[in-house]
Amino acid sequence: MNKKTILAIDVGTGMVKVLAGRMQPDGSLGILGTGAAPTVGYDKGIISDINALTHSIRQAVDCVIMAADSQTTDNVYLGLSGASLAMQNSIGSIALANQETVTPQDIERAYTAASFAVIDNNYEKLHVFPVKESVIAEGTAFEVDVHMISAQKTILEGLTQLLAANGLTLKGIVAGGIVAAETIKKELTGHPSNFIFMDIGAGTADCVLYADGKLCSSASLPFGGDYITNDLMQGLSVNRSHAEEIKRYYSRLSPDLRNQGVVLDCNDYGTTDKHVSYDFLYDIIESRTEEIAALVHEAVKPLVDEHIAVNGLLEAVYLTGGAGTMPSMVTCIAKAFQAHTEIVKPMQLADEYASPLNTAGYGIISYGVQNLASEPVAGGKSAWGGFIHKAKKLLKI
Ligand SMILES: Nc1ncnc2c1ncn2[C@@H]1O[C@H](COP(=O)(O)OP(=O)(O)OP(=O)(O)O)[C@@H](O)[C@H]1O
Ligand SMILES: [Mg+2]
Repeated sequence: MNKKTILAIDVGTGMVKVLAGRMQPDGSLGILGTGAAPTVGYDKGIISDINALTHSIRQAVDCVIMAADSQTTDNVYLGLSGASLAMQNSIGSIALANQETVTPQDIERAYTAASFAVIDNNYEKLHVFPVKESVIAEGTAFEVDVHMISAQKTILEGLTQLLAANGLTLKGIVAGGIVAAETIKKELTGHPSNFIFMDIGAGTADCVLYADGKLCSSASLPFGGDYITNDLMQGLSVNRSHAEEIKRYYSRLSPDLRNQGVVLDCNDYGTTDKHVSYDFLYDIIESRTEEIAALVHEAVKPLVDEHIAVNGLLEAVYLTGGAGTMPSMVTCIAKAFQAHTEIVKPMQLADEYASPLNTAGYGIISYGVQNLASEPVAGGKSAWGGFIHKAKKLLKI
């Protein structure tokens, strides 16, 4: 792979998924290949076995290297979510040296103050989003309101070191759901102002809230499609991969089959007795999906009330991720949030990659592309490029 190739590693509860891409001369992103491996040692953002997780990541990367028919790259980015992240809002206030005049140094001091207000020494900030900047106290003070995403230093350092020992030097670790939301936001039709981006995967629901078009809050919740799979395993006495198959099969069927006495052949290799009534599957899957949507709503509603109530109505929920693609999830989320709900996916990618399961990877790789574009070019560095680079370093966006 040449120097401009980027690897995006999306560490999910179910799978580690890797996208390899390259910036095209016209600035667009071309995908060279994908790779995936079952995740071991990581669940809903909690790393239980860092060596096993490193092995899963290496396996997925080896797959993409084979698929893209290339060797490793200098530009590797890794996305995390769930409990490994802390998401907080904070205010930083400073006294202005000169009344009514806000200097770049004042702005930097205010952002530093906001960071100090939430970060303890065990955490490192990954992203800081400015929500509001205002001059207060009759022009004598300056205040910034930020949303900050940070991660435990031990996790960041442990992963960086172990991956380096396995031949993968990370250029950055990001919050997968956050960079995905920021990428998809630019592609939404109609440019909504007040909306929620929601990536529901196997174990986590990453929710990112926008008010007045600005990212103002987020949460990574421990709810996902695994809950439905577990119920199916119990209810039908099947193993995990069989339950996954049945769940996907059900997702393709029309709810009109309900109350029609329809019996489905849900047999897999090695089973002959799995003839299951549609209504039985409906009861299990729909009640769990409703419960997940209700829990997500309960957790996110206070954020919506705080940030969107003052700015108007919640216009839409944009759903993605494996469990977000289920038609029942779309219906249940729409009902819980009382808002227009639709599925989003990386439409800019070629059809074979444009799946909601790749949205987080797409966000990570787009972040990598942006970073690469803002890097100084060998032999010269423009003043504007240098400024953008500095600003990005300060805000970590
Ligand atoms: N067609 C489908 N119908 C129903 N469920 C699906 C479908 N495709 C994937 N899923 C479910 O989506 C989940 C996997 O989604 P995804 O790959 O986004 O999760 P992940 O990134 O591994 O985990 P997480 O982000 O939650 O840590 C699984 O629960 C899987 O059963
Ligand atoms: Mg995911």
